[in-house]
Amino acid sequence: MTSIAQNLSELVGSAFAAQDLPRELGQVRVSDRPDLAQFQCNGAMAAAKQAKKNPREVAQAIVDALSSNDIFSKIEIAGPGFINLNITDEYLQDYLTNLENFGVEPTDEDRKIILDYGGPNIAKAMHVGHLRAAIIGDAVRRIMNFKGYKTLGDVHMGDWGTHMGMLIGDYIREDEQNIVLNADMNDSNAVQKLMDDFAVRYPKASGAAKENPELMQEARDITVKLQDKAEPYYSIWQKIRSISVEGMKKTYAHLGVEFDLWKGEADVHDYIAPMVDDLKAKKLAYTSEGACVIDVTDDQDKKEIPPLILKKSDGGVMYGTTDCATIVERMKLYSPAKMIYIVDQRQSLHFQQVFRAVRKADIVNDNVELTHAGFGTMNGTDGKPFKTREGGVMRLEDLIAMAIDKATVRLNEANLATDMDDAERTDVAYKVAIAAIKFADLQNQRQSDYIFDLDRLTSFEGKTGPYLLYQTVRIKSLLKKAEAQNIKFENAALIIQEEDRNLALLLGEFSDALNLSIQNYAPHYLCEYIHKLAQSFSSFYGNCHILSEENEDLRSSRLLLCHKTANQLEKALELLGIFVPIRM
Ligand code: ARG
Repeated sequence: MTSIAQNLSELVGSAFAAQDLPRELGQVRVSDRPDLAQFQCNGAMAAAKQAKKNPREVAQAIVDALSSNDIFSKIEIAGPGFINLNITDEYLQDYLTNLENFGVEPTDEDRKIILDYGGPNIAKAMHVGHLRAAIIGDAVRRIMNFKGYKTLGDVHMGDWGTHMGMLIGDYIREDEQNIVLNADMNDSNAVQKLMDDFAVRYPKASGAAKENPELMQEARDITVKLQDKAEPYYSIWQKIRSISVEGMKKTYAHLGVEFDLWKGEADVHDYIAPMVDDLKAKKLAYTSEGACVIDVTDDQDKKEIPPLILKKSDGGVMYGTTDCATIVERMKLYSPAKMIYIVDQRQSLHFQQVFRAVRKADIVNDNVELTHAGFGTMNGTDGKPFKTREGGVMRLEDLIAMAIDKATVRLNEANLATDMDDAERTDVAYKVAIAAIKFADLQNQRQSDYIFDLDRLTSFEGKTGPYLLYQTVRIKSLLKKAEAQNIKFENAALIIQEEDRNLALLLGEFSDALNLSIQNYAPHYLCEYIHKLAQSFSSFYGNCHILSEENEDLRSSRLLLCHKTANQLEKALELLGIFVPIRM
């Protein structure tokens, strides 16, 4: 059981193979000219080129072979050798009646897939820079899990860098380290107060260090001592880290984003020394200007790729060092098939260096995929990176709160959720806000920048999360009405007519969209698909009778189509991390 296009690809592929032509060229996809045909196969041209034959003749031979098949209502050759295909309504009925698991076939990949989509830095406020990683990564994880992959989402906190030295230095200078050391982790007020304190103290310390080279040196020295686990630095750090993690967990939970592993850079510290020794023994790492580095150039490089610094001259370790050591640990603990990093595009050089270093060092072999799935910037309506009105860094929690306020206004404008008590209404506004934020992000190609325009993305019209929620709830309330009238439709026979056909065909595309999202780590394929599905439902709803249909068989068939549509919409939204309210 898979998508309709995949099923047709098998058939057409076999027809190619029977003519001694490559099976893959029989790939069938949904036609991009629905006015001409439902499906198309463009492989005859490439096959003809390879076989040094006339493309239309090759197409004709395929068409002849397929015409004995009664699942096609039309097979035609167009232009230089495109094969256009329509399927019969009987085939479509049959396909949808037997549809299981939305047509998604489970993967046979057994090894783990590690997804790295967190990266918040402890003691620093989480800001919108962390939003895209979380939203995209969480969606990719949910989508892959649905396909049966064994994923592990790692938050990979930044907890081992100079920013820690700055903050600890500030506490010690002010002789206030005891506020941290004596903090009672069970007292949530005290914990919150400390998080607020970090939010003020870190920018102060960092600003001071940037102005004053002595303070910067002090911060570096403390960082090196911390990395040697010297006291009192290490104890202060441990406490700061646990407090900070509490805050992060709350923010991620608020976004509905989950991780399996709550690890950070510091967790791999003990892997660093043996890794560096090994690299030295293999004559890959060497000393340059006091630092220990590894060359990562390649003969094919068009621009220069600088060496990766493993240890600075003062002994401190770098961002790249912890990333390499993390790969050592992940290989040892999980021996994964893939490690996917959903991290800002601007870090591409960093990942290029890290991936080359670990391959060179044989820490990973060619059976392991390493991918930096980078993303573009979230901009404000002025086209510049998103900021607060005052030009400061927008905290993630503030952004969520803004979206919830706006969602409430939108619900009022649209006269929705009016008959609910406060608790339910608050929950609906929250779900609308999360749908708005996530869908606005996920619908874009991952690599492109996008404009975060709260007015537009919270609208109940257009290509928005709220529109999709609204359509899904609308179908579900229609089905509830049918139930209230005691109309049974779950086991109805499907009757596909002109008005039903487009919606029915789309229901057979789910697994194509899902597979593309997985292959490219790009949830926008699934977004595109459900938006089309919701729109198609909307015209179906406008063009034909459903509950008011007098022919009872047709009425049940249409209700069943509605039911299948609602299920697909709800499942796809769930895979994007978007949750549908019961009513609206
Ligand atoms: N902490 C980093 C930052 O804020 C992001 C970490 C991403 N993940 C990784 N394995 N490097 O830029």
